[in-house]
Formats: sequence, C-alpha cells, structure tokens
Amino acid sequence: MANPSLLILAGDGIGPEVMDEVKRIIGWFGDKRDLTFDVSEDLVGGAAYDAHGVPLHDDTMAKAQEVDAVLLGAVGGPKYDNLDFSVKPERGLLRLRKEMDLFANLRPAQCFDALADFSSLKKELIAGLDIMIVRELTSGVYFGEPRGIHIEDNMRVGINTQRYTEAEIERAARAAFELAKKRGNKVCSMEKANVMESGILWRDVVNEVHQADYADVELSHMYADNGAMQLVRAPKQFDVILTDNLFGDILSDCAAMLTGSLGMLPSASLGLPMANGRPKAMYEPVHGSAPDIAGQGKANPIACILSFAMALRYSFDEGAEADRLEAAIEKVLADGARTGDLMGPEGGTPLGTTEMGDVILAALDASL
Ligand code: IPM
Ligand code: MG
Repeated sequence: MANPSLLILAGDGIGPEVMDEVKRIIGWFGDKRDLTFDVSEDLVGGAAYDAHGVPLHDDTMAKAQEVDAVLLGAVGGPKYDNLDFSVKPERGLLRLRKEMDLFANLRPAQCFDALADFSSLKKELIAGLDIMIVRELTSGVYFGEPRGIHIEDNMRVGINTQRYTEAEIERAARAAFELAKKRGNKVCSMEKANVMESGILWRDVVNEVHQADYADVELSHMYADNGAMQLVRAPKQFDVILTDNLFGDILSDCAAMLTGSLGMLPSASLGLPMANGRPKAMYEPVHGSAPDIAGQGKANPIACILSFAMALRYSFDEGAEADRLEAAIEKVLADGARTGDLMGPEGGTPLGTTEMGDVILAALDASL
C-alpha cells in the first residue's frame, strides 16, 4: 500500500519554525514506528502572496484536495495588514476550509497538569480540564451572502450575513454527538436563539438530530453569551461544546486561554470521507503567526506537534501512536521543559523551539 500523504503549509511568522519540529517528529515515526508519510510542502498566506500575489495558489489548492491530510502552520503578519481584503493571508486559510468543505473544527481545550498554574483562573477550576469545542467551519457569517461595504444614502454600510441551512447544522451536530460518545457523552450547543432566527433553527435541528439518533447523549443548550460566562465561571461542567463559526471562533479563544497557553492547543478540521475512507482533513495549531517572536527560534512548537498527533488519531487511525506522542509531551512538561511562553514567576532558562523538539524526540525514544 502507498504511504499516506501529507501536505505541509508552514505559512508565516513562527509557522515555519514550529513546523520544522513537526517534520522531525514525522521523521521519527518513519524511522522508529514504520509509519512513513509522503511529505510535500507548499506556500500559504503571506508567503504565498510574496511568491504568487495570492494567499493560496490554485496548484496548492489542488494538491490540498489530493493529499490525505494538510498540516498548516500559521498565516498573517503586520507586513500584510494593508493588503486588499481579497488577498489577505487569512483568505488563503478560509479558501482551504471552504473548498475542502472542512465543516467540523475540533478544538480541544485540555489542561496539562504541569501547567495548571499558568491559567488566569484558579488552579482548582481548571486542573483536569478536558473540553472539546466543535465549531462549524464552512458557513455562517464568515461566508454568508450578501456581504460587502456599500454606499446607501451617501453613507457606507458594512454587511455580513449569518446563514445556516438545516443540512449544515445537522452535519456539525452529528460530528459533535459522535465525539461525545467517545468522551463524556455530553453536548452543550451554543447559539443566540433569543435574538437570531438562525439560532432558532440551529436549536431545532440539534434537537431533531438528538432525538432521532443520539437520545442517549446528554444534550443541553445555552445562549452563547451565557456560554462564554460559564466557560470562565465553571469550565469543567462542559464535555463537548457545539457551536457555529463565529461564536466558535470567540469561544475557542476563551477556552484556549483557560488552559494557560495558546501555544499548547491543536485543532483538526474535518470534512466528508474521501474515496479511501479517510476524512478530508487539515490540522493546525490554534495560535497565530506571532510576528513579535518570529524568526527568533523561541516559539513553542507543542501546539503544532499536538496537531500532528490529532492527524495520527483522526486521519490515520493511529490512536495508540497519537497517545504515545501526547504522553511524550506530558512527560517533558512534567520534567520541567518550558519554552518562553511557559515561564512561570519562578523563572529559569527557557528552551528554544529546536531544544523543545529535542526533548520531545528523546521522550519518544524513551517510550520504545
Ligand atoms: C481561527 C482564526 C481564523 C478565524 C482567522 C485567522 C481567519 O482566528 O482559526 O480561529 O477567524 O477563523
Ligand atoms: Mg480565532
């Protein structure tokens, strides 16, 4: 059988630095676990704009459609802030999500024991935290039409449209219920049914899917503003949170920060099964391109490495190897390995990006 294929789009800022460590980890699985991937690389975001004048070249889009999984670093940076909206680095990322139809965005917010002191919340509120946010990723106000800035009565008007079809809500809901069955068996769905018709439909469809096929999963509903409040009040009440594209964007940043460092959190964006049975998939860290520290070799590669662990689990059915990689990361953190973003008040000398890669590789070796 052919090796599974990966397309690496490292992107901008710290993207290439953290992705270098992921490449070493991928190499390790080839050498030591007989899990060899065919890896190709291409440009996205500002890097693609610099080379081609667009944030994602059509050839790159075509390659992304063919591989088993895409690994993305980060896009954007101050250099590109004043570009026309249509060629901003973020448009490259949104095009990948839309054209690959990656409707289910899985954003775990997990608190590593060794880092429980890093949260802005009290330790007892977040120790052992393990939430999975399922964010709808291909519709809603990010893509709804009409949109744009128009002139009406000599005045500029900015328009975006929140739009959801039943089918879009249903497939996101199914993804959330399926995940819940493998976890704590609880889904909390968040919208604004008190002010938005799309929220009323969202709640109805989630209830219908629940009654039809997932009645054994515990389902609750919350208005998204209350959900944000509950996330910082008592985050451990949640197992799987199901929400739309825009609320998911905001709630997932909030959930991420509960764990103390954005530099720790991975994500998976999944679509429909391909001919080989694997889902269309892209994996990326939740953090951005961090232009302030880019090129200095001090970024934390863990979120990007954990994103590869998610690829092992969700694309390649290698759950045991994903566990191995996650355990290696837990081990190095427990042993005190820290990049700059993880330095507590006690101080110490932070590891650089490559050094963090080194200790994780050593922990992987030790796991054999
Ligand atoms: C995210 C990011 C993106 C989004 C940006 C970079 C377009 O914030 O993945 O959460 O808004 O979806
Ligand atoms: Mg975001």
